[in-house]
Amino acid sequence: MGRMGTDAGRGRYGEAVFRPEQAGEDERIDLGALTYDDMTMERLRALGAGPGWNCLDVGAGTGTVARRLIEEAEVASVLAVDRDVRFLAARPLPGLDLLEADAGAPDFDPGRRFQLVHARFVLMHLPAWRGVITRLAGLLAEGGVLVLSDAVDLTTRTAPPDAYSRVMQAMWQGLRDTIGTDVSWVADYPRHLRDAGLVSVAAEIRVPPLVPGSPISRFWIGTWDRARESIVATGLVDDAVIEEAVSYLGSPGCAALSPGMITAWGRRPLSA
Ligand SMILES: C[S@@+](CC[C@H](N)C(=O)[O-])C[C@H]1O[C@@H](n2cnc3c(N)ncnc32)[C@H](O)[C@@H]1O
Repeated sequence: MGRMGTDAGRGRYGEAVFRPEQAGEDERIDLGALTYDDMTMERLRALGAGPGWNCLDVGAGTGTVARRLIEEAEVASVLAVDRDVRFLAARPLPGLDLLEADAGAPDFDPGRRFQLVHARFVLMHLPAWRGVITRLAGLLAEGGVLVLSDAVDLTTRTAPPDAYSRVMQAMWQGLRDTIGTDVSWVADYPRHLRDAGLVSVAAEIRVPPLVPGSPISRFWIGTWDRARESIVATGLVDDAVIEEAVSYLGSPGCAALSPGMITAWGRRPLSA
């Protein structure tokens, strides 16, 4: 396992909220992975991920995508980077290399170039996301593809003020206040990738159905639980409203749209 620079841990993700040392944080990440991994793998394989590719997974979390790239897509290697690699180190795999580093640092450079650079649910948490897009695009080999996914919320802002929507609104505000999370720009991903010099840029949005007991439903309940202090600190909702929203997600009357995932991609052009 590598360790880079002195910046690991400087990012505010994982400090006040979503601390990896808090029991169950890997399970919360895995509920998101269970929801989205098939969609992510489908897209990565459609973009050509396969034998011979060297891949970089930024903010790799518990490593579910990194492992599936090796085991299913049979890529040559994956370098999995995270500000805290404890979940990745727990399950080693041939071809999976680990680097503990702050991928948001201006000097982040693992020193190699990749056919695939992937980051899911990471840049939304990095206030310096513009520079990160540019730097990640700079890590591509010629013809390589940058694939970035983040949360997209299509409804919360305009939804009627029921407990579920109010808690979602307070969650985004609370995460913004504590971590600097911002999902307001993600619909502009295609433009940002084009501005980073990439070509063949495109994007898609996938929204998982909010069925009671489903992984995405449990993911939101777990996320609200972990972010509860910052949610309540917004003053927008109190504990009783959060409890009401949790009950609603588990009830047969639940009828709401979950935030989904935008995935955008673009290729580094071949030099003339
Ligand atoms: C919401 S989780 C997503 C995990 C994984 N990409 C997935 O989709 O299952 C965000 C991950 O990014 C990592 N992370 C956050 N800020 C980071 C930074 N500045 N540098 C490296 N990793 C970071 C966190 O430690 C966490 O593992």
